[in-house]
Amino acid sequence: MTSATLEIHLTDEDLTAALREDARRGLTATPKSLPPKWFYDARGSELFEQITELPEYYPTRTEWALLERVVGEIARTAQAEVLVELGAGSAAKTRLLLSALNAEGPLKTYVPQDVSTTALRAAADQVASEFPGLAVHGVVSDFTDTLDNLPRGGRRMIAFLGGTIGNLIPRERAEFLAGIHDVLEPGEQLLIGAGLVIDPAVLVPAYDDAAGVTAQFNRNVLRVLNNRLNADFDPEKFAHIALWDAEREWIEMRLEATEAMTVTVRDLDLTVEFAAGEQMRTEISAKFRRAGFEKELDTAGFATEQVWTDPDQRFALFLAERRY
Ligand code: SAH
Ligand code: AVI
Repeated sequence: MTSATLEIHLTDEDLTAALREDARRGLTATPKSLPPKWFYDARGSELFEQITELPEYYPTRTEWALLERVVGEIARTAQAEVLVELGAGSAAKTRLLLSALNAEGPLKTYVPQDVSTTALRAAADQVASEFPGLAVHGVVSDFTDTLDNLPRGGRRMIAFLGGTIGNLIPRERAEFLAGIHDVLEPGEQLLIGAGLVIDPAVLVPAYDDAAGVTAQFNRNVLRVLNNRLNADFDPEKFAHIALWDAEREWIEMRLEATEAMTVTVRDLDLTVEFAAGEQMRTEISAKFRRAGFEKELDTAGFATEQVWTDPDQRFALFLAERRY
């Protein structure tokens, strides 16, 4: 059986050290907050896969259908020899892209990257067995940290699907796009999937589903803190909140303490007080307007070559080229 190679730039110890810093900063700040990358331990990655199947969660199936429609055009324009995918997760939709690039001819290597080792290993092995001639080389790293360890050489396209770009706060987003610009060579391409601003009546239920899967996903960050840092959060004492911030045009997920609580994070020697009703931000999911996002790409040094959207204008794929 063909198997993938895995390059680990974030060990378990590195992850714990990074979580210690984020937890100390976020839990002692006012208001409290935690970065969304900590949702994704093995259980969180599994819960995300369940979210993608929910009737209310339109982004995955919308991007899927869009990719099915335009993947041939993307492959023809990109002529990529190497496909690097950031935040690849299960890489389910990526099969479409890999098949199309394969059909164009030059594709040699697929490099899925993710912070979740379990999800990455499974995805990399699965792709390797489905595409026998393809070299699959997974990279475990944090895409907000450094992109320096991504392979160089061969004509590359970097893909960042799913709308994960929206989970970065605006400052991180600008730094992230500038970082991608720096690792690409002039003429190489970036393919980004981004959710568009739509009716909050459709948006909000996508982040607050009737079955409560997103609520479990949200609370999973507390389980990660319990497991990695010996904290004693009772996740069921936190209510899931998803609201649309119309001014900043993002969905904000929060966890609300349903009663006053004292939580201990043993490995940090930290005691954290929660007032009844206190809310802690756990994720933003920004939605974009086409012109605004093209401007962000332009500022980072990319020329947008093409933009495709679904018929309901819920999701867009931006194909951009490093300009200089
Ligand atoms: N691209 C897939 C998965 C999206 S879920 C899709 O379109 O369905 C977001 C993915 O990004 C998860 O697999 C998560 O583990 C990963 N991720 C989140 N923050 C990350 C970070 N800072 N660095 C690397 N990967 C990250
Ligand atoms: C991974 N990311 C694009 C998802 C989103 O839609 O922002 C994460 C998610 N959060 C709640 N549901 C799904």
